[in-house]
Amino acid sequence: MDPLRGTLLWASGNATLREHLPRFRAVRKTVNRFMPGETADEALAAAQRLRADRLPTTFTLLGENVGGSAQATAAAGEYLRLLDRIQELGLDAEISVKVTQLGFDLDPDIAALHLERLAERSEALSRSLWIDMESAAYVDGTIALYRDLLAKHPTSGLCIQAYLRRTWDDVRSLSDVSPTIRLVKGAYREPKQLAFQERALIDESFFRLAGHLATTARRLVLGTHDTEMVARLTAALPGGRDAFEIAMLYGIRGEDQRRLAADGYRVRTLISYGPYWYPWFMRRIAEKPVTNTLLALRNLV
Ligand code: FDA
Repeated sequence: MDPLRGTLLWASGNATLREHLPRFRAVRKTVNRFMPGETADEALAAAQRLRADRLPTTFTLLGENVGGSAQATAAAGEYLRLLDRIQELGLDAEISVKVTQLGFDLDPDIAALHLERLAERSEALSRSLWIDMESAAYVDGTIALYRDLLAKHPTSGLCIQAYLRRTWDDVRSLSDVSPTIRLVKGAYREPKQLAFQERALIDESFFRLAGHLATTARRLVLGTHDTEMVARLTAALPGGRDAFEIAMLYGIRGEDQRRLAADGYRVRTLISYGPYWYPWFMRRIAEKPVTNTLLALRNLV
């Protein structure tokens, strides 16, 4: 792994930095590149602007590894209110949640209860509930929760990561339940025993998994900004651009998002918001380490 990327991912999990870095104006200014604001109002306003460009949205309230059940309940409550607002505004939008934000570390059953409420509400509004994938320690637990959820809410979706060596086995084990999958490369710092470290290997894994899932998943979303990969898959898959949807993050490759949508691809923008942005923000910086660190330094001066 690139040493700068490794350092940034280490910093994303460091408690001291988490407490102090967000206070710096340069850091707050840099985070604005990746999120429209900390409030639901700002996130919804951004979605309304994107709607004008024919870009539907997915919302994520930032937060992970909550320390108490009250915080998990508050996060679930915020998502329920957000779903109501999405409905009121008539937005084509879904929500995507993290199990550790819903109390998984305290007790997986707490997370399961919140997931159930959110899936039920999403389904009542004809939308899918998505579950993000976090670091490798949570993969078994997240897949188990997803399997249980799917039994009652068959359109629920799960994110899986192409960089993990185990993902092929996970995909095969899910093939009996017709999963809805968002395939991503993977954003965490994982050891080489668990995850491919070289970009070429991760890309190849992504390409092959996408090919397999295009025919086995109920719905396949490619969560990537890699437009070359999208072109390669479009050429390789029998269904071409209809074989998958694309999801990209707010603030990254916006021009490409609009261009792909205009070219007939089904593209969705994932908007993150909320005050607990530090670890998520550091993972975004680590994805394009040199450019994004330079951007932060420029904001500093
Ligand atoms: P790659 O890293 O090869 O980037 C391709 C190009 O896109 C770069 O050359 C650059 O131009 C641009 N780019 C990518 N990231 C950028 C950035 N941060 N800043 C500026 N430019 C950037 N991960 C995870 O572990 N669990 C999850 O649940 C999710 N969920 C998720 C949802 C959605 C909708 C997306 C798009 C991504 C995720 N991810 C994720 C993150 C994912 O694992 C991965 O880290 C990033 O998408 C970056 O990889 P790419 O596939 O974009 O390719």
